[in-house]
Amino acid sequence: MAEPSPRQRAAELAAEIERHRYRYYVLGDPELSDAAFDALLAELEALEAAHPELAHPGSPTQRVGAPPDPSFTPVAHRVAMLSLDNAFEPAELVAWAERVERGLEGATPRYTCELKVDGVAIGLSYVGGWLERAVTRGDGVTGEDITANARTIAAVPEVLALADPPALLEVRGEVYYPVAAFEAMNAEREQAGLARFANPRNAASGALRQKDPRVTAERPLSMVCHGMGAVEGLEVASHAAFLDLLAEAGLPVAEETSTVEGVAEVQDFVEHWRAHRHDPPYEIDGVVVKVDDHAHQRRLGSTSRAPRWAIAFKYPPEERETLLLDIEVNVGRTGKVTPFARLEPVLVAGSTISTATLHNEDQAALKDVRPGDTVVVRKAGDVIPEVVGYVEAKRPPEVETAGPWRMPTACPFCGSEVVRLEGEAASYCANIDCPNRLLESLAHVASRGALDIEGLGYETAKLLLDEGLVSDVVGLFHLDRDALLALEGFGERRVDNLLAAIEEAKAQPLERLLVALGIRHVGGTVARLLARHFGTLEALRAADAEEIAAVDGVGPIIAQAVRAFFDTPRNAELVDGLVAAGVRTDTDAVERSDLLEGWTVVLTGGLEGFTRDEAKQAVLDRGGKVTSSVSRRTSVVVVGADPGSKADRAGELGVPTVDEEGFAALLASGALPGEATDASEAAS
Ligand code: IVH
Repeated sequence: MAEPSPRQRAAELAAEIERHRYRYYVLGDPELSDAAFDALLAELEALEAAHPELAHPGSPTQRVGAPPDPSFTPVAHRVAMLSLDNAFEPAELVAWAERVERGLEGATPRYTCELKVDGVAIGLSYVGGWLERAVTRGDGVTGEDITANARTIAAVPEVLALADPPALLEVRGEVYYPVAAFEAMNAEREQAGLARFANPRNAASGALRQKDPRVTAERPLSMVCHGMGAVEGLEVASHAAFLDLLAEAGLPVAEETSTVEGVAEVQDFVEHWRAHRHDPPYEIDGVVVKVDDHAHQRRLGSTSRAPRWAIAFKYPPEERETLLLDIEVNVGRTGKVTPFARLEPVLVAGSTISTATLHNEDQAALKDVRPGDTVVVRKAGDVIPEVVGYVEAKRPPEVETAGPWRMPTACPFCGSEVVRLEGEAASYCANIDCPNRLLESLAHVASRGALDIEGLGYETAKLLLDEGLVSDVVGLFHLDRDALLALEGFGERRVDNLLAAIEEAKAQPLERLLVALGIRHVGGTVARLLARHFGTLEALRAADAEEIAAVDGVGPIIAQAVRAFFDTPRNAELVDGLVAAGVRTDTDAVERSDLLEGWTVVLTGGLEGFTRDEAKQAVLDRGGKVTSSVSRRTSVVVVGADPGSKADRAGELGVPTVDEEGFAALLASGALPGEATDASEAAS
């Protein structure tokens, strides 16, 4: 390896020294002996003596290692931290772009589109390449000094990795709490019986405002940079060029950013990320669109509040407040009693929410929501809507005096006792024949991921039960046509369609049957693994727990649950009944291979020979991964008909693309067309 240049070595040393100083003074947890630390400092001093151009007032050789002050001293921003104007509808975005173009006298500008990270705004000043200060936004004119805390964030470099850093560079960005880490932390808190943190932004803000930087250091905060504050000795022509410079300097920038031509492409970006809102590692609440050219930006200028050259397009909020009307309980197909909130209907993230689960007695107690409370409801992506908590200031006095909600002691469907076994979070209806359990079982069997019986929803299932046409799941396969015709609202067509759908359901492969059985822990993924491995229901039923646990992806807990299911006489009887009714007991699923292990594939556009699900499954079956957005880590993008912006993104990032034919070749050989496979290499 080449020797580092004196400048590189000086920067390395400086960064090391700062890191150790920090550990020593702030964290009180030094990694190095005093002698080893002094040696680093001596090496830097010698280097600066030999190369005076490297000496700098910000260098650690020029400063004593005074402990930083985490006192949040007010600091005036060198350049005000402005806000952004908002657009909520595509038409508002178009209107903004028209204003921009008028302001530029008809020139069509390029736009840089970024994600609007829902974090905590921060400004970092680098003087001569050295981190001088980190400041919060505050009121936009004056912020608070949080340098000591910001230094604990791994993504905040102490020294810029630039050979010739500008005299002053102030970058702006968002500090965020990564969503995955946030979820993990909340899961841990729940385990420990603590209330969940409301959202990643509050968690980031709380972490950044700790009086003791050691506490901040323990949080997995990160940052993404998106803007320019005060600069001296730096000229960049465009925002995109500025972001490139930041990346080169070792500052974190978002990989989703894209510079486009014209407002139509801006709209594509907005729509793409609306659909992929939850793909990035941070929460986003919209997109920020910026006129890219700095000369254009200067021409457009700013109002006192916000620049005219940028706009925030906001997605519908995922959290809203609404009234909690009542807390009721449902009894599921396993007898589990689940409390849920009945809500004044509210539109959250594009869907109307009128109920939300409260999971179990402990969860309900932890959230302490009560009928009459104003509650925060959250719906994020595919996740089921949930009640985050109540708004303390809006709790009426009578709700306060009413006290916490309690789990009912009798089942609302059959009056049987509701019991909670020791050590379990769930409560159960003690009656194995509870009518609601049966209703839930029928609805489950008919559901999409199970046998998928069209025309058999809750309403119909309830009618069949109430009218005594079925008394268990097997009964579905022995329905009498005349009896159905006698039901109100059931004409010939409806009856024949229902019977045909039930007949079709019998032909569903084993994995669907396994889901339909409702075995604990056996959802679609596990069912597929089991079906693939055992091939037939008979083979699975004959396997002992050890054999089942040996299936890749299935552990002892699932194996136990599967065994326990088939060993329960009532279940065995039910399965026999289904088999006697003629349900299919084998599968088309193939054994997994590892042909595409380590591959990350992105699919875009339509394929002729595969549905999207089939294409995805084909990759998974070969041990590969399928992701929805293109990054540098993507191995290949499969481009079908009418591809989205992902194809362009692949081009920008230099990620290889293949058409459908190439995809088929990849599935068959584990290599891109034209690329040597191990086999062909061996042959040549
Ligand atoms: S640019 C003068 N870009 O959103 C322009 N801001 O609602 C300043 N934000 O104060 C902002 N992601 O804290 C910009 N990609 C992004 C952003 C972003 C999040 C925050 C920022 C700003 C607030 C305005």
